[in-house]
Amino acid sequence: MDKISNVLVFETPEQVAEAAAERFVECASSSISKHESFTVALAGGTTPQHTYELLAGDEFRNRVAWSRVHLFFGDERMVSPDSGESNYRMVNESLISRVAIPQNNVHRMIGEAAADESARSYEAELKSFFGAVDWPRFDLVLLGLGEDGHTGSLFPGKDALKEDKRWVVATRQPQTGQERITLALPVFNNARLVMFMVTGKEKAAILARVLARVSTAEELPAQKIRPANGALDWLIDQAAASAL
Ligand code: 6PG
Repeated sequence: MDKISNVLVFETPEQVAEAAAERFVECASSSISKHESFTVALAGGTTPQHTYELLAGDEFRNRVAWSRVHLFFGDERMVSPDSGESNYRMVNESLISRVAIPQNNVHRMIGEAAADESARSYEAELKSFFGAVDWPRFDLVLLGLGEDGHTGSLFPGKDALKEDKRWVVATRQPQTGQERITLALPVFNNARLVMFMVTGKEKAAILARVLARVSTAEELPAQKIRPANGALDWLIDQAAASAL
């Protein structure tokens, strides 16, 4: 494993998943010892799924005080929770249904509602949990990187990226028009730790652009993830790192 600042390169995607699970466990323990709970915003996509499966497996499951963990979501598609496209379904199958987490600690985004209504209701849920603060502060945010530079459901050129008041916003996937909701950029950037997971050679070109921080007319959404008062880690495999 090579370490280039906060960019960690692993040989295989399995090692990325393992390292992410290890950091999840460490972050959970230190958060729980400091403030008695651990709040995490989860990513969808295929890359983090392996991490969730590991967390639910024998090696990691008993190392997390699940009753103190609060699982939130970074983004969701406007689909029912049993759809193959639902982030909730993926996380439920790979993690939630396999660990002893109280149902009240699982804060899902409602996919089966109108996007605006769902964004408002999730914001209300966050406010009732985090209280009267400017922005919620997650202990950990997990993110993936799309080939167009998107992260969460913050897509290039969309208004959602400029949101500076609402905590949760409705948006659309630009190519398909599919409705999504996503945490707003200031929420991601208020986290204590943001951890990107990126694997596969199809991500090599966009990762090189994002990490080079090349300034263009419009920054890529993933380049705007810069925790103001927290840390930013990139866990990537060699295939994704091949153009760095
Ligand atoms: C999602 C996320 C999205 C994802 C990236 C990378 O729910 O799919 O919104 O931002 O993290 O598109 O996805 P992969 O890990 O599947 O490549």
